[in-house]
Amino acid sequence: MVVSLSSGYRVQNVPFPAKSIGVCKCVATPQEQETVFKTKVSRNANMGKLQAGYLFPEIARRRNAHLLKYPDAKVISLGIGDTTEPIPEVITSAMAKAFSFLPNVVNHMACPPEKVIVVMELNKPLRAAIASTFYGNFGIEEDDIFISDGAKCDISRLQVVFGSNVTMAVQDPSYPAYVDSSVIMGQTGEFQKDVEKYANIEYMRCTADNGFFPDLAKVARTDIIFFCSPNNPTGAAATREQLTQLVQLAKKNGSIIVYDSAYALYMSDDNPRSIFEIPGAREVAIETSSFSKYAGFTGVRLGWTVVPKQLLFSDGFPVAKDFNRIVCTCFNGASNVAQAGALACLSPEGLEAIYEVIGFYKENTDIIVDTFNSLGFKVYGGKNAPYVWVHFPGQSSWDVFSEILEKTHVVTTPGSGFGPGGEGFIRVSAFGHRENILEACRRFKQLYK
Ligand SMILES: Cc1ncc(COP(=O)(O)O)c(C=O)c1O
Repeated sequence: MVVSLSSGYRVQNVPFPAKSIGVCKCVATPQEQETVFKTKVSRNANMGKLQAGYLFPEIARRRNAHLLKYPDAKVISLGIGDTTEPIPEVITSAMAKAFSFLPNVVNHMACPPEKVIVVMELNKPLRAAIASTFYGNFGIEEDDIFISDGAKCDISRLQVVFGSNVTMAVQDPSYPAYVDSSVIMGQTGEFQKDVEKYANIEYMRCTADNGFFPDLAKVARTDIIFFCSPNNPTGAAATREQLTQLVQLAKKNGSIIVYDSAYALYMSDDNPRSIFEIPGAREVAIETSSFSKYAGFTGVRLGWTVVPKQLLFSDGFPVAKDFNRIVCTCFNGASNVAQAGALACLSPEGLEAIYEVIGFYKENTDIIVDTFNSLGFKVYGGKNAPYVWVHFPGQSSWDVFSEILEKTHVVTTPGSGFGPGGEGFIRVSAFGHRENILEACRRFKQLYK
């Protein structure tokens, strides 16, 4: 029997369909040819620069191959960071209500006009609720906020705003979407196999030695700086002093920080939850975030991006106006149902419910951290993020990933998939049902005792 914490399992357990990565194909892997006919369209050369597949489809591919090899194995997935617990009822019931009011062909006639308006006008109250809940004292206003179908989608839309002529810096290791979207936009050179890096990207090394915060004195100037805190995959969260240094660097260099705070509510330490807590950040920073990891919205799809009106390009043009133009061109808005759910997340009962689920995942994190600590591993992260970053010095991440999968049937994520700085680590996700977390830890103990 296969018990997995990945998307297929959730489909049976939550009332809303979960994201399926099964449809996502690895773009750089040539697909099987069904015909010899070729068009005269040349391939986008930037796509050809991408290395292998996007990390998570590649992991899913290996997991599926493992299942073919061991059809009876009870595979536990602590790899892809998809949430597993049901969306709290206070949120699903708000979405169900919004769904019944959707002005579609079937129920349009049945929907009283005032209710249609209520559903259609969710965007403004949601932006206001996000501004007051997350940015209350930081000078961010409702009209600085753009509602979206997720932080990942907004990262790519921001890249479209920036275009192909900018340079970018990224934490190494980091969430792969920043680098891959940069490659696709044509901001980089070719992949350099010897160093496992793309040319023209400034990789800001984050290791245990520097407390997973880059030595900013050594970082070359770039136009854009992607920064994620708490970080996926290392789980490290930057302190107020460190973020102040980052904002100062951006000011000095005239750079724009794209700050990803998708895990901010997992913070236990007293670190900033938003870049806008740092004075001066509104002139140099954009922030993107999401309900995916807060409320189990990985399949529902609802995020937001803050582009303050104070943020200007070198010619004085507001970045927010260009972002608005791109959003209007490339995107027709987050679904009303998802927006109703997000609004419910920010009600007092909704916030209480999502903190409860986050608390559950944080307990999972403690169990994983304790397990690897008891086995003598150096373990990082876990305290401010639902990811545990385990060191296997001198070993290849993919080898460790393969050994764990082969011997325990547990799927993890190889650290090198997040950049060369992740080599020698694996990331263990705390998103999982408690019995599966306990079972995975029992198997880790057997393997490494
Ligand atoms: C750092 C980070 N940002 C963004 C995302 C994607 O968020 P969303 O589901 O809102 O697209 C993830 C998902 O794993 C993430 O780890």
